[in-house]
Amino acid sequence: MGFMPFKRASAPVGVDSPSDTTDRHASDTASIAPSKWRPNRAIIFGLLIAILLLVVGCSTGKQSTWEAVGPVAEKQLQLFNVLLWVMVAVFVGVEGLMLYAIIRFRKKPGVEPSRTHGNLPLEITWTIIPTILVLGLGIWSVIALFEIDQPPSEDTNVIEVNVTGHQWWFEFEYIDAGGGKRITTANELRIPVDRSIKLNLYSDDVIHSFWVPKLAGKLDMVPTHRNEMWFKADSTKIDTLPATFYGQCAELCGVSHALMRFRVKVLSEADYDSWVDNYGPPQPLTEMAEAGQNTFTINCSLCHTINGPDDPLASKSKLDSFMAGGDVTAVPAPNLTDLRTRQTIGAGLADLNSETLRAWINNPSDLKEVNHMSGRAFIYQDGDVTLSDEDVEGLIAYLLQLQ
Ligand code: CUA
Repeated sequence: MGFMPFKRASAPVGVDSPSDTTDRHASDTASIAPSKWRPNRAIIFGLLIAILLLVVGCSTGKQSTWEAVGPVAEKQLQLFNVLLWVMVAVFVGVEGLMLYAIIRFRKKPGVEPSRTHGNLPLEITWTIIPTILVLGLGIWSVIALFEIDQPPSEDTNVIEVNVTGHQWWFEFEYIDAGGGKRITTANELRIPVDRSIKLNLYSDDVIHSFWVPKLAGKLDMVPTHRNEMWFKADSTKIDTLPATFYGQCAELCGVSHALMRFRVKVLSEADYDSWVDNYGPPQPLTEMAEAGQNTFTINCSLCHTINGPDDPLASKSKLDSFMAGGDVTAVPAPNLTDLRTRQTIGAGLADLNSETLRAWINNPSDLKEVNHMSGRAFIYQDGDVTLSDEDVEGLIAYLLQLQ
């Protein structure tokens, strides 16, 4: 008899006559202690509250999809809103009708319900309405997707950027940042306001996903395949320039996936041009920075470039040695040429200053537990960094360009 509660739960409904059901309910109530059910309800209630709190926690605003600042994100938000509210209306309508029918036509126990077999006008109605809704929303969605697929044809000064996902950082390569200048940078994409930016998305290792919620929806970065997207930051939606928008890898890509962030910095046309003009190796150097440059050349230049855009052949060779594996190998690493103009370190993890840079160089794993720098660079192979404090200070001076 110990199996009684389970037997009851799986017994087909309506097997017993109504009067039997009434009797059995009475005996069940007696045999199943209420305490067996209450904890389950408490757990469900607790889970609902937890989900609610989690959802509330999402609204920090930094990566909110509800605040679109460009045409692509706006169209996607509009698409979402219309689909959502149409579906809410359908849900409320259908559930409402069902509840009405359940209550309105409920019969007392023991009363034989009337049997209805088909109602042509009703069936035609509930076939036609969903068909129109599904077709209408489907066609409109496809039109909207085509609309945001490419930058508007009247935009003639589109900036094209190759974006490559790496474990666990983002590389940005401007094919022509302005005046024919090629630029490679990392983790911070600088764009001029009101200009369309076309992005070619790639990955060097595993699948990542590129996502700046306020500018555009996410798109996967797939090895050996190019995905394309574009966005524009609309000056009428931005209060002050420069403005920073937050991005995040949105595809589980390994241990440090959650620590793979980036920023899009929207600049005035003049500020952007000035950044492009000044992109290049730091100069002139102080004595301390010169020592740092020396330390850099010996210890860091195998992976990091500091004197301009990356050379495709060098990048290919780094990727090959990364793929071949093993300790102490060259690996694809962020180009540091314009590090002095950046806000963050470690792919958007901490503000960039001499303190965070010192902590990062001394032990990258403190900020990002799993990273290829401490895994593969020979200065970390003994556990502690093998550079002297003086070397590190020189490196910092060099990297921050005499800050
Ligand atoms: Cu890259 Cu997640």
